[in-house]
Amino acid sequence: MKHLKFFALCAIAALTSCSGGKKQDIESRVESALSQMSLDEKIAVVHAQSKFSSPGVRRLGIPELWCDDGPHGVRPETMWDAWEAAGQTNDSCTAYPSLTCLAATWDRELAKRYGRSVGEEARYRNKNVLLGPGVNICRTPLCGRNFEYMGEDPYLAGQMAVPYIQGVQSNNVAACVKHYAVNNQEFKRLVIDTHVDDRALYEIYLPAFKAAVLEGGAWSLMSAYNKYEGTFASHNARLLKEILKDEWAWDGAVISDWGAVHDTEEAATGGLDLEFGSYTDGELRTAPAAYDNYYLAQPYKEKILAGELPEEELNDKVRRALRLNFRTLADGNFGSMCSPEHFADSRSIGAQGIVLLKNSGILPLKADVSKVVVLGENAIRPMVVGGSSSSLKTQHETSPLDGIRASFPNAQVVYERAYYSGEPTPGNYNYSLYDLTEERPADKLLSDALAAMEGADYVIFVGGLNKNKYQDCEGRDRRSYELPYGQNELIETLSAARPDMIYVNISGSPVAMPFVDKVGAVVQAWYLGSETGNALADVLTGAVNPSGKLPFTFPVALEDGPIKTERQYPGIQDENGKWHVYYDEGIYVGYRWYDSKEVKPLFPFGYGLSYTTFEYGKPVLSTRRMGKSLTIKVPVTNTGKVAGAEVVQLYISDVEASVDRPVKELKGFDKIYLEPGQTGYVSFTIGRDALSFFDAEKHEWVAEPGTFKALIAASAADIRQEAEFSL
Ligand code: BGC
Repeated sequence: MKHLKFFALCAIAALTSCSGGKKQDIESRVESALSQMSLDEKIAVVHAQSKFSSPGVRRLGIPELWCDDGPHGVRPETMWDAWEAAGQTNDSCTAYPSLTCLAATWDRELAKRYGRSVGEEARYRNKNVLLGPGVNICRTPLCGRNFEYMGEDPYLAGQMAVPYIQGVQSNNVAACVKHYAVNNQEFKRLVIDTHVDDRALYEIYLPAFKAAVLEGGAWSLMSAYNKYEGTFASHNARLLKEILKDEWAWDGAVISDWGAVHDTEEAATGGLDLEFGSYTDGELRTAPAAYDNYYLAQPYKEKILAGELPEEELNDKVRRALRLNFRTLADGNFGSMCSPEHFADSRSIGAQGIVLLKNSGILPLKADVSKVVVLGENAIRPMVVGGSSSSLKTQHETSPLDGIRASFPNAQVVYERAYYSGEPTPGNYNYSLYDLTEERPADKLLSDALAAMEGADYVIFVGGLNKNKYQDCEGRDRRSYELPYGQNELIETLSAARPDMIYVNISGSPVAMPFVDKVGAVVQAWYLGSETGNALADVLTGAVNPSGKLPFTFPVALEDGPIKTERQYPGIQDENGKWHVYYDEGIYVGYRWYDSKEVKPLFPFGYGLSYTTFEYGKPVLSTRRMGKSLTIKVPVTNTGKVAGAEVVQLYISDVEASVDRPVKELKGFDKIYLEPGQTGYVSFTIGRDALSFFDAEKHEWVAEPGTFKALIAASAADIRQEAEFSL
């Protein structure tokens, strides 16, 4: 007995001594552990033991594996076996800006900083896996989770996801890329069957995932709820085995979305590795033993024992689960939580991601004024809560009102709400910034706002969506492209009195702005996290010169977009009542659509203004005939009076192709900071992949010889320079 104990301790030491270590060490530890595990132990590590954990192998010194949401901060602890918050007082976090805001920075360095910073918080909280980032493409402005994703372009989403993942994982915390795949709407997300052709799948919906797992080296990935071509994404051998594990040769672990598994055999053979969040039936739903009834628990064990499913397949899952576990052992890094540096990261990412959409000259605000009027409910609403699983409990949140107030210490800052959503603060963390109750009817709110505006130097209206149900929220797509709570009419009325009114839009998706010509400025301020008010004030006052650019198109009206039929969105039911959605628009998503139809959007993809101006010089190409690669160098000059940063975009246009191709596609971008009068250079190196389309019949990427154009642009609708080259 004594001996046995001694050997067990040796095994523990061997398995835990070098966390996150070299690939070889990890592989040999995986094999060593696997060879010592019983069938019960193997089964235990491929399914959950609580809402967010799996058990590890205590006997071998392999600790529990803890996951948590993601992606904008570390979610507060939940009950062991229930979604409710555990009510701890030590789990407040730094809330970072939403991922759409991060994408709007177009800044890879900042994405890395974001990942490192949020990863440190996850490490401190002892999480092995942070559930994010989300890289699903914004296919419709109505998708409830657009705010958790990185826009409409696969290249941009991939480029921003990669450093985020590397930053998170530098803490030995795994990123978990979600939701794989074709999960582009929340309506019927648990059951809808997505039909998409292979060209659109490979060109639009998969590249960001591929970049995330291969270039970013993500250690885990979350399979989506929806079906793809008849089979649940979490059971889908085409997505999980054929593409992810075979074509891309990825060695990480696939974790099911919470409750996305429906069948033992399909899940076991379809490529899923770990099952989380399933509900079990009836009586056992809340019993501790319910976890044993998961599809990859007892039912799986029984099928293996009966010889119906091979143990070798289970071994592959166990290897991946163990690899995830060993990669994420703490390794002497204890992380940190709510540090001043983290709040500073949150603030600078927020300020860099804010997009200035219109400015008739009123911005930046001058400090020496006597009266500033702030209007709109979103100026006082907490916004780190809501939206469902990404909802956070933060140590502090600065409201837009407080941020603006702090910027005008010598002015009278007056607040009027102007409208009342009637929505409670979402989430269950008993959290508020201001009293949100309201007794006044709409007409009184309006007249009070108009009265407050008398004599104001500035009027700033902070409105938009608010992460309540149907307002940028998981599980509930938006019901309309219009702003809610009568804001359109309200803004028109208020701006009739003050045509220089500044409209600050809080949202994580595009919204209609029929009032755009009637206001003095429009600022897209996303959900900015803990430092919302400070980041916003930084941009409004010019302390930070805005440099964010849109990661998706804002159409004038929803009808202008590619989705024309119910089968395209929200989907239709077949004769058996099953829901299907058909991506009939194929590859024509976002600017690819607006370009092809020559439809002018309200604000194009890649668009954003600055308080300075930039001039682009002639691009210089390393060669006019591309072999393996080509470098394009572009001089950029800050021609204005203040320092600022510009996001320069490279689109490639295939002049003549044997197949239908988008007018142009984003294949490079760089952000350059310049002092007034300064000239700097951005350079892009592209390979043949930047010229290719996916030939679905041959199942390969094809770059056709011929002429191409390199378009150097300030947005998808603002091409500043072009140069031709051939392949
Ligand atoms: C969401 C995931 C989330 C998980 C755990 C699911 O409902 O779709 O994104 O990570 O819950 O909270």
